[in-house]
Amino acid sequence: MSEATTKPNFYGPVPYTKITSERYISTEYMLKERDKIWSKTWLVAGPAQDVEEPGDFFVFELEPESIIVSRSEAGEIGAFFNVCQHRGAKLVSSGLGCVEKWTCPYHGWSFNNDGSLSHVPDEDRFSRGIPKEHLSLKSLRVEIWAGMVWVCMDETAPSLQEYLGPVIEMVEPFRPQDMRLVEDQTCLLECNYKAVFDNFCELYHVEHIHPQHELIFDCPTSTAEFFENGHTRVLIDGFTVNSRLPIPDEVPPTQWQQLETLGMNRDDYRGRVLDVRRDIQKKKRELGPSLGYNYDLLSDEQLSDIVQYNIFPNAILVLQPEEFWVLRSRPRGDDPSKCYWDKFALRMFPDAKLRESSSVEFPALQNRANIGFSVDQGEDGTLRPEHDEFDQEAIIAGEKTMTITLDQDIHLIRDVQQGMKSRGFEEAWLNDDEARVQHYHNAINTHINQ
Ligand code: FES
Ligand SMILES: [Fe+2]
Repeated sequence: MSEATTKPNFYGPVPYTKITSERYISTEYMLKERDKIWSKTWLVAGPAQDVEEPGDFFVFELEPESIIVSRSEAGEIGAFFNVCQHRGAKLVSSGLGCVEKWTCPYHGWSFNNDGSLSHVPDEDRFSRGIPKEHLSLKSLRVEIWAGMVWVCMDETAPSLQEYLGPVIEMVEPFRPQDMRLVEDQTCLLECNYKAVFDNFCELYHVEHIHPQHELIFDCPTSTAEFFENGHTRVLIDGFTVNSRLPIPDEVPPTQWQQLETLGMNRDDYRGRVLDVRRDIQKKKRELGPSLGYNYDLLSDEQLSDIVQYNIFPNAILVLQPEEFWVLRSRPRGDDPSKCYWDKFALRMFPDAKLRESSSVEFPALQNRANIGFSVDQGEDGTLRPEHDEFDQEAIIAGEKTMTITLDQDIHLIRDVQQGMKSRGFEEAWLNDDEARVQHYHNAINTHINQ
């Protein structure tokens, strides 16, 4: 063997281990993951706002499991395996709703929304009796954090707080629990769930497939951090330009909307485009209350930049002060070459009381604010968006979009999965900027080898 293939290696603090194609294409590996990852870790089940009121429920599909998350009449949050205790029929089909009881479509057993067995038709015909506690829905652990419901099938796993460790305190200043859902999409991808997750563990690809980012983010100076249990984060300067490129003389159009919203004149920045980021921080600090935003818990950098957390094994939290994305990949069926790719977008809506109490006059804002990286603040957050599910061909054909950046990733990803099937591919050969990929796979190894 050559030195290159034998030399022990580290990517920063992350030790090298082999990432071969087996984990992306092998059914056997996928079955191991069911036993050793999905049933052992805390998982994002869905938005907490879908279970705010008694009777609210939603179904989280994690094939072959299906999990009901519910708010009981007594106001308690619960999570249950979605399986009738009579003969194992799936109790509730996918979706969300508000009910007091679920009735099995097969023989009509019904269960209260706290999981307890409510009614069995012809109960007197069960000569073994109906031990109600035993026949109630099987529950799993559930927590609400960061505006999302999290579930865990393993009774012996650490708490969600322990599992996420320092991530908890880092995320909380963004107050994601105060944001409302504005988009709920699922794309059916033709790739392993890790292939798409890997893509969000590195910025190496950004200059190649996301050229628009050069004029609003500085990826080369991003900072990666590594946490226990396979989690990572990356901090990226926003409202700036890629530091590898010549500095443009004029503020790029990608930043105009934000400047206008904050009452800043782009002509003032001719020849000093790199001052925009700092001044956006100052303006947001100054105008926050008049815009209806409370930025008190956030640092100046957090007002202009973007931070992304990759939570093992499958959730990505992208945070900025006014918007929060939860991206999630899930296995699909029994095929390791397929997955679901979900996007929940949540938004902080301006607080009218805060705005009214502000002494700063800011007529340009009228009743709404276009602030942050996204521009449309048309909704008020009171209407839940409908779930939209489509396949990747719809993205490739331009019939659907998950934003231009995610669409660009989706274009690439099926070819990665295809390549994984080739005899000509031995192992991933990462660079230091892909260390978060390695950290993620090392956590996978820890679980699989247990
Ligand atoms: S399987 Fe549900 S009532 Fe029979
Ligand atoms: Fe990307």
